[in-house]
Amino acid sequence: MNTGASQPQGPQSAGLVRPGSHDRPVSGELFIGLMSGTSLDGVDGVLADFSPPDGLSLRVRAHVHRPFPADLAQELLALNAPSHDELHRAALAANALARAYAGVVSDVLAQAGIEPHDVRAIGVHGQTVRHRPREFDGIGYTLQLNNPALLAELGGIDVVADFRSRDVAAHGQGAPLVPAFHRAVFARPGESVAVLNIGGISNLTSLLADGSTVGFDCGPGNALMDHWCRRHIGHPFDDNGAWAAGGHIDGDLLAALQAEAYFDLPPPKSTGRDLFNPPWLESRLRARPALAPADVQATLAELTAWACAEAVRQEAPDANELLVCGGGSLNGHLMRRLAARLPGRNVRRTDEVGLGAHQVEAAAFAWLARAFFDRRPGNLVTATGADGPRVLGALYPAH
Ligand SMILES: Nc1ncnc2c1ncn2[C@@H]1O[C@H](COP(=O)(O)OP(=O)(O)OP(=O)(O)O)[C@@H](O)[C@H]1O
Ligand SMILES: [Mg+2]
Repeated sequence: MNTGASQPQGPQSAGLVRPGSHDRPVSGELFIGLMSGTSLDGVDGVLADFSPPDGLSLRVRAHVHRPFPADLAQELLALNAPSHDELHRAALAANALARAYAGVVSDVLAQAGIEPHDVRAIGVHGQTVRHRPREFDGIGYTLQLNNPALLAELGGIDVVADFRSRDVAAHGQGAPLVPAFHRAVFARPGESVAVLNIGGISNLTSLLADGSTVGFDCGPGNALMDHWCRRHIGHPFDDNGAWAAGGHIDGDLLAALQAEAYFDLPPPKSTGRDLFNPPWLESRLRARPALAPADVQATLAELTAWACAEAVRQEAPDANELLVCGGGSLNGHLMRRLAARLPGRNVRRTDEVGLGAHQVEAAAFAWLARAFFDRRPGNLVTATGADGPRVLGALYPAH
């Protein structure tokens, strides 16, 4: 694939520049990427420069994370399940999302010291509230709430949005979409490398030494752990996994969770909160009402570590290195359990090869927006199972 991205050469290959460095852009290759994932923690926005003057593959010139306002996070979570007056509420939530995205865009521009006209386009993922590809009528759907027209109006920058539905229309899963970006940025010729994103759901990209790529969702990432934390200790997440680390893994519960059929499906496969949600967990806890909440948390962390490690062992058997990104990479306990399940492999965060763990997904949507303008396919059929490569996204011009 002609990505315009040079192969990484060393630890700084992805070309991270510390946010706040105010070097002026010199090319028309600046894109803003916006990601708000299944964790519902908020929005990550990056300014990605795809032809930095130093010849690196990409340079992140600014990065902003803004938490969602509590009422928006709550409404988005509620809209993940059937409820009253959904169409009206979804439309208003989409407006609120666009305003949140516009706020992040404004912060990104300020941090980089540039103007809207310096940016070629924004690539925005939107907020997944349903993911049911290939179901019902055979095509099914994946639904990302968003109002890209309002974002174009508020931001004064062209917006590329709705990246997943074209892949679904071509009988794909519409997910994961990041493997092509992972390949462009992290692949090393003649070497097998694995990239793991631990967001609400976790997904693995296996970059094989022969140049082929496999990508799929492993299963839960943080979503179930976050839910359990909110419910029992009132925190949005288990900081550094300290709560889980103090609990004991319950073997019976772990086995019951591992029995989920999704784990045995071969890739390509994708999942979401439609499957790994509180009722899924509750139904497996019913037989074990006496378990201490900390032990459940320890077991949920172990489930995530196991699902990710098994995915690596099966689909990236030759990868000596596992690069981890997403908020789960900040969970020290989870990272230790992952490494313990993958003896002999170098498990480290993408920060160590030049791209911040919270920047990877947002940068991927900047990259996909650029692919749209170049009319390059953004999907990999080995990751989504689509009928073929497709140009992804739809354009909302600013002017
Ligand atoms: N210090 C930390 N300790 C433990 N967990 C953390 C920490 N910081 C973040 N997290 C976890 O990371 C999550 C956010 O991760 P991230 O933003 O990558 O997920 P996401 O929004 O679902 O993204 P995506 O769906 O694109 O993968 C939080 O909900 C939390 O569970
Ligand atoms: Mg997030």
